[in-house]
Amino acid sequence: MGRVEGKVALVTGGASGIGLSSATLLAKEGAKVVIADFNVDGAKEAAENIKKQGGEAVGIFLDAGNEESIKAAVDFTVEHYGTITVLFNNVGLTNLRKDLDIVNMDLDEWDRLMDVNLKSVLLGSRFAIPHMIKAGGGSIINTASMAGFAGDSLRTAYGSSKAAVVNLTRYIAVQYGKDKIRCNGVAPGLILTPAAKKNMPQAMLDIFAKFNALPYHGEADDIGHTVVFLASDESKFITGQTIQVEGGHYMANPSITDVENYMFSMKQQG
Ligand code: NAI
Repeated sequence: MGRVEGKVALVTGGASGIGLSSATLLAKEGAKVVIADFNVDGAKEAAENIKKQGGEAVGIFLDAGNEESIKAAVDFTVEHYGTITVLFNNVGLTNLRKDLDIVNMDLDEWDRLMDVNLKSVLLGSRFAIPHMIKAGGGSIINTASMAGFAGDSLRTAYGSSKAAVVNLTRYIAVQYGKDKIRCNGVAPGLILTPAAKKNMPQAMLDIFAKFNALPYHGEADDIGHTVVFLASDESKFITGQTIQVEGGHYMANPSITDVENYMFSMKQQG
């Protein structure tokens, strides 16, 4: 028996990267999966691949910046598979050209990123929760980011929206826990998905690798496996948490290298 056998999952942004891995692994572990994505051809292709591997999935269109479209995706899931017991709110965007520092950032881009990254989590949950209550419970999982746990010189809207996702996760957990609805987040560090590879030159990837505690980059399946765990009953006493899956990148004291160099130079001087 699969780890999420009998569950029905809606995965947003499931045509690529983290969403694709999660949808594939959820289906492999027995869930019926709706893959919802702006890239509807990619969503359908992903579902076909899952079916070829013996899983159950269907691909549909979703615009995570549009309330009606989010409602339609939840309604479709319930009509097609009879219920919704897992919601993976995964869509998220960044824009390195317009999402800049406080003074210079494009305010329209701020609004767009808040809609797509944050409001979509609120809306997906708002539409799914009544069905989950009817089903006797469910698991909502939100993709945050390590950018929601630290300040940065750019990507102000992205980081702010993801920090808000971390707290929205707690609000959902607190408000619907007694209905047996759990809500958790996953905060990826740099994960080598198509989006990350497109946005980051090799030199930047090398810098990230250097500061990981582990000697390798994260991959989409590292998040996918975490999502399966949070969707499954194995995590039935975990709620309101955001699990940081980031290779220890943010674990060390940032001044460690300078401190070590200082100690070394002191030792040299006797
Ligand atoms: P990706 O670009 O590989 O996949 C994102 C998917 O979302 C694509 O299939 C795209 O078509 C879809 N999408 C984009 N906008 C959409 C919209 N408005 N409506 C519906 N679908 C839409 O991206 P990746 O890397 O898998 O990112 C997934 C999530 O992980 C995002 O929330 C991102 O912020 C987060 N994340 C990713 C990190 C990384 O290093 N890859 C690090 C931290 C967080």
